[in-house]
Amino acid sequence: MIFRIGNGFSENSPLPQGHGGRARLRLHARPGAGCACLIDLDCAIPIFRHGLGTIAARCHGKIAEMCGTDLHLDKLRKARERGLIDRFGLYGLQWGDPDERSDLVAVRDRFVWPLVHPDKVTVEIGPGGGRWTRYLVPCRTLYLVDRYPELLAELSRNFHAPNMVFVQNSGTDLPGIADKTVDLVFSYGTFVHFELPIIAAYLEEINRILKPGGDVVLQYADKTKPVGAETPSFPDCDPERIAALVRDTGFRIVEQEDTLLNNSGIIRFSI
Ligand SMILES: C[S@@+](CC[C@H](N)C(=O)[O-])C[C@H]1O[C@@H](n2cnc3c(N)ncnc32)[C@H](O)[C@@H]1O
Repeated sequence: MIFRIGNGFSENSPLPQGHGGRARLRLHARPGAGCACLIDLDCAIPIFRHGLGTIAARCHGKIAEMCGTDLHLDKLRKARERGLIDRFGLYGLQWGDPDERSDLVAVRDRFVWPLVHPDKVTVEIGPGGGRWTRYLVPCRTLYLVDRYPELLAELSRNFHAPNMVFVQNSGTDLPGIADKTVDLVFSYGTFVHFELPIIAAYLEEINRILKPGGDVVLQYADKTKPVGAETPSFPDCDPERIAALVRDTGFRIVEQEDTLLNNSGIIRFSI
């Protein structure tokens, strides 16, 4: 399966294992082919349902970031160098404390507290230092999924409850979490940095693990808001696009909050 996408790439660039390790995307330089490169899909995966134009928009110039950005490792290193972790008590609180900053308090009270329950199996994707993990701990099992071992190590400095399972993943999968076993998936500050194909791959995995009636709460980047548009690490994402992806993956949207945060939105959905 070959898609022509324009130019800008000069070497084969593997994507992260896209979907449970089954999908791979390669770019081929094709001198004289009319356009400079082609995408060759080893197999069709859900992220490519969305058409050639959007594939081009998502992939052009973005492959390097999608493959292995150092953004999150840089953020952690800088926070350590600047003494922010000691000053704030937990890595991530320098971005705002959900116990204090009014918009985050509202997120906590509307999208976290009402969904947390001691009987639930919960997954947090991209927990960072545990800014939101604090609220999710009272549950049966809490899977803490992160792509970077350095971030999981930082998290484990403060969190060691026996119901916690630390999972290092490949960047789009939920390994070791069985099908239809999860009641709640939560992610904040993480999907705001993902290109849409990465989000789409995660949605397929969430669809696999979520119990019928389970809840998913994700914060996403909103480039229609001025602050979102000015944030360089945010991908081209907005409420309509995220809603379409969520629906296309077979979920039912419960609510979508687009006024609370100045650079992003929150979507809650179920199956
Ligand atoms: C900006 S931090 C946010 C941390 C925390 N949720 C918070 O709000 O304070 C992003 C987190 O996502 C993790 N992360 C980045 N890319 C990821 C990926 N593809 N899959 C899972 N976690 C990822 C980072 O390592 C980091 O822990």
